[in-house]
Amino acid sequence: MRRPSILKVSAGRARRHPTRVQVSLVSCALLLLSGCVKNTPQGYLQPEGPIARKADSLWDITFLIAAVIFVIVQGLLIFAMIRFRERPGHEARQFHGNTKVEIILTVIPALILAGLAVPTVSTVLALGKKPTGDVLEIKVIARQFWWEYQYGDLGVVTANEMHVPVDTPVYLTLEGDDVIHSFWIPKLTGKQDVVPGQVNTMQFEAERPGKKYLGQCTEYCGLSHANMRILVYTHTQSEFDSWVDEQREPAAKPQSALAREGERIFLEEQLPAGGQCISCHAVQGTDAQGTIAPDLTHFASRETFAGAMFDNTPENLAAWLRDPPAVKPGAKMPSYGLTEDQIEALIAYLGGLD
Ligand code: CUA
Repeated sequence: MRRPSILKVSAGRARRHPTRVQVSLVSCALLLLSGCVKNTPQGYLQPEGPIARKADSLWDITFLIAAVIFVIVQGLLIFAMIRFRERPGHEARQFHGNTKVEIILTVIPALILAGLAVPTVSTVLALGKKPTGDVLEIKVIARQFWWEYQYGDLGVVTANEMHVPVDTPVYLTLEGDDVIHSFWIPKLTGKQDVVPGQVNTMQFEAERPGKKYLGQCTEYCGLSHANMRILVYTHTQSEFDSWVDEQREPAAKPQSALAREGERIFLEEQLPAGGQCISCHAVQGTDAQGTIAPDLTHFASRETFAGAMFDNTPENLAAWLRDPPAVKPGAKMPSYGLTEDQIEALIAYLGGLD
């Protein structure tokens, strides 16, 4: 008598709770559908600018051909499964090989690939060439885990946040000396690896001023690979020119007693755990000329810091200065054991570097 009642209980449970298979199927479907979301910050399905569109049109051609082949192959497969299914009284013809079919199935893909090679090679060559005319050249240096941008001709050095004018081709040369990274601003351009010991190039051209584009390192490069972000700000030519003028200025002099104390710590103090700020950082117009960490001359003009991971606020800066690797795994800047007073003074100093 007891057995049936147990069965009833377990059957009731099974109806109320979805099975693991159902949960997995729904999760997979949701994951798949998330790819259809329109216009996400890093969505590459709505390319912007002539260069991104050129690369995108190549993808469109390839995808169209692949889709047609997929439908034909799957159609033939389904047709064969139904037409030649096992039936009583029918026996499959036994044979081995068919030279004519094999030649056709080799020649057709070869022709398709050869045809695709024409637009592919011409687009790859065109995108790899340095644009002619008015070009903005920026040297990108990838480091664990942030980006340095050197505007050679303009005398500007900044980090993580790239500023560009619209309607001007931007030609990037990418270098690095630690591990392989990859530079990607999905809406504006394709990916390009940054390989130690090698100079790679890429280009993009923005067309809408006043926009902020999000990018990301796309080659696994260590603990904070995911925290190596890229921001691109677009400007009209005159806005860009004023940005350049501001960035070329030497650092602002500290205005308060606290900021002056911060500058003194930054330039002179041996930090509690050993080491000095100026061994790594530069602030133009002072003795700080370090080159292995971000140039902080106009630190306060940036919206973010540490690989564009944190908003540039006093609270975030305090947490960072207390113990950088605690808030950003793998950060190369160690904890210097700064006192709260030293942190407060440094924040006052850095906050004045606009
Ligand atoms: Cu740099 Cu991933």
